[in-house]
Amino acid sequence: MNIDIELIQESKIDTVDFNNLAFGRTFTDHMLICDFADGEWKTPKIMPYGPLSFEPSARVFHYGQAVFEGMKAYKDDNDDVFLFRPDENFHRINKSGARLAMPPVPENVFFEGLKKLLELDNAWIKKGIGNSLYIRPFIIASEGAIAASPAEEYKFIIICSPAQSYYAGEVRVIFAEEYSRSADGGVGFAKAAGNYAAQFYPTSLAHKEGYQQIIWTDANTHEYLEEAGTMNIFFRIGDKLVTAPTNDRILDGVTRKSIIQLAKDYNIDIEVRRVSVAEIKEAARQGELKEIFGSGTAAVINPIKGFKHQNEAFELPEISDSYASFFKDKLLNIQYNKLEDKHNWRVKI
Ligand code: COI
Repeated sequence: MNIDIELIQESKIDTVDFNNLAFGRTFTDHMLICDFADGEWKTPKIMPYGPLSFEPSARVFHYGQAVFEGMKAYKDDNDDVFLFRPDENFHRINKSGARLAMPPVPENVFFEGLKKLLELDNAWIKKGIGNSLYIRPFIIASEGAIAASPAEEYKFIIICSPAQSYYAGEVRVIFAEEYSRSADGGVGFAKAAGNYAAQFYPTSLAHKEGYQQIIWTDANTHEYLEEAGTMNIFFRIGDKLVTAPTNDRILDGVTRKSIIQLAKDYNIDIEVRRVSVAEIKEAARQGELKEIFGSGTAAVINPIKGFKHQNEAFELPEISDSYASFFKDKLLNIQYNKLEDKHNWRVKI
């Protein structure tokens, strides 16, 4: 596939402190852009990372016709670069896009474009577990027209950001009682931009109470725990791990499905079933609730230290043999080419 390439004049890499990276604030030298117009995807371009210009009437600004993905590139001790289950991201961006009436991005644009971008910005991928390059592919409706209907012009863009951890400190959550993230038949399963914007206000209320995230409950009854919005969520009751099944309200997380597989590989008892607020509160009261942790590409695996529901707050115990650490260790070692990859999740670039 042909890619038009315009290289930067001078890299900004020397201005970056790779030991103090706030998530998603620093971007590499280049980005990829591919335009969709006249019913087809045009030749992709790689160009210096920088501002873009759009008509104020571009539909993405008015109707939120936008979907995205989160991926990471990892570098091993031999300077080889790997992606983790990238097919999942490719399929999911097009599944999300289909729900928002967007044309599918071709496989060669996604993969060959990404590969070339990573080759050019290879120096931005730092070695060592914990360092990675966060990759953000996204599709936006760029056509300038404000009728509320699907656009006829889109941009598929990939930008990359060197990353360390997503959550800097301890994470405590509120179980949602009033607001909802998604509804039956809605777009909750899609990585639609609006799914995230819709969480900002309720999450800001949680912040005021000292909680970093909300665990969303089902919109109909608020009785069942679904996902945290930036992460899928797992509960450890005794030695059993439980997570909600995906449905049209819940994101089908790549880290989530990898943990479920690893649990099976390592004979950890795992149940994929509905988890009620009442069950978790009762398990916490009985001292049976050992852990809650979130999973996601950006967050990897993040332990939840405590939760609140209806004015009752619970703290999770400190445990030495945590499942969160176990799975994080296994996943990272697979991602950084330090552990056998029996499911062929790693893809060398
Ligand atoms: C990811 O984990 O990659 C996500 O897309 C979550 C995002 C809110 C950072």
